[in-house]
Amino acid sequence: MTEPREPAASVRFLLDGERVEREGIPATRTVLGLLRDDLGRPATKEGCAEGDCGACTVVLVEREGAGLRYRAVNSCIQFAPSLDGKAVITAAGLKRATGALHPVQQALADGHGSQCGFCTPGFVMSLFALYKTRPGATRGEIEDALAGNLCRCTGYRPIVDAAQSMYALAAAIPAEERDVLTAAAGDAGSAVRASEARFAEALSTVARKASSVLGTPSERYFAPRTVAELARLRADLPQARLVAGGTDVGLWVTKQHRDIDAVISVAEVSDMKTIRDDRGALDIGAAAIVADAHPALVAHFPELDELLRRYGSPPIRNAATLGGNIANGSPVGDSMPVLIALGATLVLRRRDSVRELPLEDFYPAYRNTALAAGEFVERIRIPPRVPGLVLRAWKVAKRFDQDISAVCGAFAFALAGTRIASARVAFGGMAATPKRARACEDALTGETWDEATLERAVAALEDDFAPLSDLRASAAYRRKVAGNLLRRLFLETARGLPVSATRATGFVLVE
Ligand SMILES: Cc1cc2nc3c(=O)[nH]c(=O)nc-3n(C[C@H](O)[C@H](O)[C@H](O)COP(=O)(O)OP(=O)(O)OC[C@H]3O[C@@H](n4cnc5c(N)ncnc54)[C@H](O)[C@@H]3O)c2cc1C
Ligand code: FES
Ligand code: FES
Repeated sequence: MTEPREPAASVRFLLDGERVEREGIPATRTVLGLLRDDLGRPATKEGCAEGDCGACTVVLVEREGAGLRYRAVNSCIQFAPSLDGKAVITAAGLKRATGALHPVQQALADGHGSQCGFCTPGFVMSLFALYKTRPGATRGEIEDALAGNLCRCTGYRPIVDAAQSMYALAAAIPAEERDVLTAAAGDAGSAVRASEARFAEALSTVARKASSVLGTPSERYFAPRTVAELARLRADLPQARLVAGGTDVGLWVTKQHRDIDAVISVAEVSDMKTIRDDRGALDIGAAAIVADAHPALVAHFPELDELLRRYGSPPIRNAATLGGNIANGSPVGDSMPVLIALGATLVLRRRDSVRELPLEDFYPAYRNTALAAGEFVERIRIPPRVPGLVLRAWKVAKRFDQDISAVCGAFAFALAGTRIASARVAFGGMAATPKRARACEDALTGETWDEATLERAVAALEDDFAPLSDLRASAAYRRKVAGNLLRRLFLETARGLPVSATRATGFVLVE
């Protein structure tokens, strides 16, 4: 690993197919700032500067195995040095060699999917990412792909309709004219494969194998590649800020205007991005993005699909990590209640010394963690699924998509017939930290799962929590919701009434 005092390397990447190599980009310069202000590429727009509106969406392309991986991200909160070694595609780079519009753009134009057009480059890029990753996406998949894109003029119906027609426009392009950008996912024609090979070759000219130091002398950006290098940097540079996906830290820069002297990125540490199944136990690297953790978690715990689909939006999940969520320690972080309910532990490292700590013991106080100086989260371990596990985790927020929880409740029971052999219950939004509901658990454990036990457990929540009122919800509402989530659990698991409140198309009346 290069010593911190050595001169920084240039950030090198492909921008809409052209190689860019640039020195002196401060560690916290955003990708959007670099594109618009430094490189004069105004096609990518700024709306909120906090990852919420999607106007700034761009697509990152990296090599993955023998192929290419496409990820939509919010350029307003990504730090520019994170582009090093990657390709970035913007709405301006999609037009075809013939000068015609890309099928995604053509579909939006033909379907009247744009009025003022301010949001449109972002919609185009989210749809482009979908086009490159899901052959013939369904309406539901299109809606999910657009969960992070706001449009205030057009309305979503024409946009979603347009998206459904983009694949037909792709099929209408003569096979010999299709290339890496115009070919939809699954198109393996010879012209497409040749174009992809050229793209991958160009990517390899900017890729780096070794760790790098980027940034400027006053704002360094360290990108270690191994856990050992990360551990050394973390211990040697206590003032530097660890960054994974930057979806929390990015806002400290764009919204809070905080000064960050130096950044240590964990995003290139390949060992920390792995997800392993160790005889039924899940072992997730702290730098694995939520988009990758999602299918692994759902393979073990299908009950968590909706919770994970409601985690930010695709561009957020394509950058955000579970490690960042846990280390950030927000009382309304969505991964922690369910991980606590599942009995997850954290592998914490400081230099060569490693310890394992239950997640439930990681938060001594509001936004405080048990991390010692120089220590970081290396991995998250979730024990194997226990027989008879009944698992539910629900997020209650004002909107279905892209919203912060008012309350998030997670319940993991081991049922032996109608008896609750063990119960782990955890909530976010009910206390200063994500927290287990011990009194509630005591009221449940060993009891028959019936209405009397349910009501005793609901009452016990009063002993567990004294929630606050804030702009998201009042204390009374939070109390009510926490109890009602437990009642919903009862209706679903003891009465067999699946209550899908969040995506309900109709209501089930329970007498
Ligand atoms: C628009 C938007 C929507 C969001 N929606 C949700 C949501 O639905 N649910 C939710 O829970 N959160 C949400 N978030 C918050 C955020 O996306 C998550 O907390 C995310 O998981 C953070 O991960 P990250 O990799 O981006 O962390 P970063 O921003 O990179 O880091 C966050 C913190 O963790 C520290 N850190 C990172 N990695 C490590 C490590 N390995 N060891 C020690 N410290 C580390 C950093 O120093 C920093 O303090 C949203 C954010 C935005 C902007
Ligand atoms: S500008 Fe709104 S998400 Fe980036
Ligand atoms: S077309 Fe104006 S905001 Fe979408």
